[in-house]
Parts: sequence; C-alpha cells; structure tokens
Amino acid sequence: ERPHILVASPTFPEVIAKLRAHFEVEANEGDDVWKGQAFTSRLPGKSGAFLTGAQTVNAEVLAQAPELKIVANMAVGFNNLDVAALEAAGVVGTNTPDVLTETTADFGFALLMATARRVTEAEHYLRAGLWGKWSYDLLLGSEIHGSTLGIIGMGRIGQGIARRGVHGFGMNLIYHNRSQLDAATEAELKAHYAPTKEEVLEKADHVVLVLPYTPAAHHLIGAAQIALMKPTATLVNIARGGIVDDVALAKALQAKTIAAAGLDVFEGEPTVAKELLECSNVVLTPHIASATLQTRLQMAHLAADNLIAFFKEGKPLTPVTQQR
Ligand code: GLV
Ligand code: GLV
Repeated sequence: ERPHILVASPTFPEVIAKLRAHFEVEANEGDDVWKGQAFTSRLPGKSGAFLTGAQTVNAEVLAQAPELKIVANMAVGFNNLDVAALEAAGVVGTNTPDVLTETTADFGFALLMATARRVTEAEHYLRAGLWGKWSYDLLLGSEIHGSTLGIIGMGRIGQGIARRGVHGFGMNLIYHNRSQLDAATEAELKAHYAPTKEEVLEKADHVVLVLPYTPAAHHLIGAAQIALMKPTATLVNIARGGIVDDVALAKALQAKTIAAAGLDVFEGEPTVAKELLECSNVVLTPHIASATLQTRLQMAHLAADNLIAFFKEGKPLTPVTQQR
C-alpha cells in the first residue's frame, strides 16, 4: 500500500497532484490551515506530513501519531518542529533552504529601504489627502547609501542582504553571528565582525535581524537592546516573531528613541500588537519575505520532493534532523 500523507496547509494544486502520483493524500483544499486539533486529529494513519510554520510538532503531537515517519516543512525556519523530540521518536524533519535565499534577501532590503525612506508612511499621508504643499522637511528619511548596515544572524539570507548593501549601495557592514564568516567572504563584503550583538546595535544605522528563532532568542531585542541603538537608526525583522519584544519596540518608536522599524514577522502572528499598529514610523508586512510565485512554488516542490525522496530512497533532500 502507498504511504498516507497529510497536506496540512493549503498549497499549489500542481504540488498536491505530484504528491498524489506517489501517495494516498489527504490534502487541505480549503482556505484555512489545519493546526492544533484540526492538524493532530488527522495524523493517525499518516506516515508523512506536508507542513508550513503553522503546525507545531512536539513530543505530545508525536505521541498521537505513531505511524509518522517524516514531516516536511514548507519554510526554511523550523522552530515549529521540536527537533530533539523528532529525533527521539525517529521521525525525520525537513525544511526548504536555499530556494528562498535571494528572494528573501530582496525583501529584507525592500523593507530596509521602505523603513529608512518612510515609503508606506508617505503613501498613507498622500492617500489621506494631507499633501497640500511642498515643504523642505516633508517626510525626511535617513540615508541608505554610505551608511552602516548591521546584520544579526549572518546565514545565507544575511549574506544576501549584506551583498546588496555593500555592493549595491556602498554600505559599510558590521555583523554578529555565532560563527565568523570565512576570510574570503569577510574580505568580499569588507565585513566587520562584532563579537557581540550589542556592538552591532550601537554602531549600525540600519539593523537587520535574520537569525533563526530558538528559545534563547526570545526577546533577544528588548527595551535594553533597543536603547543601545542610535536615535536615527532603523530596525528590520524578517527572522521570526518573538525575537523582538514588539511592545518594547512600539514604545521606543513612539518615544522616537529610534527612528523607524520594518517588521515582516510578529510574536503571535497573524495578530499584531496594537501598540505597533498605533505607530506611524513602522512598516508592517504580513510575513511575505519569500512570497514570489517562483519561490513559493520552489519551496512547495522541495517540501514534496523531501517526502518523495524519503519514501523512495530512504533519504530526504534537506533534513533538519539527524537520522539514526
Ligand atoms: C519563512 O518564514 C520561512 O521560514 O521560510
Ligand atoms: C537561512 O537559511 C539563512 O541561512 O539565513
């Protein structure tokens, strides 16, 4: 009998069709993602699952899914997967690295520019009919070219943003990461390695967060860290909600202790802290950094291909778990 697969979040019909060519598929073809009980109640009898970040898989969930062998996340981040619990249960987890790197870096840079140059605030101003006359100081933003870009979390996406900033906009680069870049990459990016994130926060004009979410990264950027930033600085988060204390950030934005922020991810999304919604100097987008047709399609195909490769060859393409 063919393996039974659950597709827990809606995805491209052509990817579901591809899965149906290999598996017995129960696919979510509605509008809402299946999460919580709607997800776990469908796991019994399934040996694989196609997920997005919306479904949590931990020891409790795994206990309800004894047949489960693999969960394939359609995302590069996998903080919804408890890797230790998966490994303990002998279940494979996979993600979708690489296919979204450049697209996500494009968006990180777009958010940096929109934030520094107040693009959405300016549009709201215009749409509200407030543009009555020219003014020398209307919606002044901060410089991007020649300024200092600070990146916290220098993985593939961070390096993509760094390249855009350094080679495209003549920015100076300071970064913090668990490990330092190799010498050739540091030279290419004229990168200054900061042993602490505090140094990046103090020195950068534009700080971009691109680090993976782990419990240790919870509220890594809170009131005390934001207070280290320049009053003219901007902060962009395209990593994960919860890395920034959104309410502390909103307070800093309201008090203008930093100039502006750009956020694609939020703690508790899709709910957004009302304190942020009340700030004018923040650009808010609904977790769309990888959202182009080509990239989302490649992510969905890679998640499906992980399931296919695992059941065909016993080896997934892009695992995040160690196989025994
Ligand atoms: C999106 O946030 C992803 O992790 O791919
Ligand atoms: C994500 O995979 C990253 O490398 O930043």
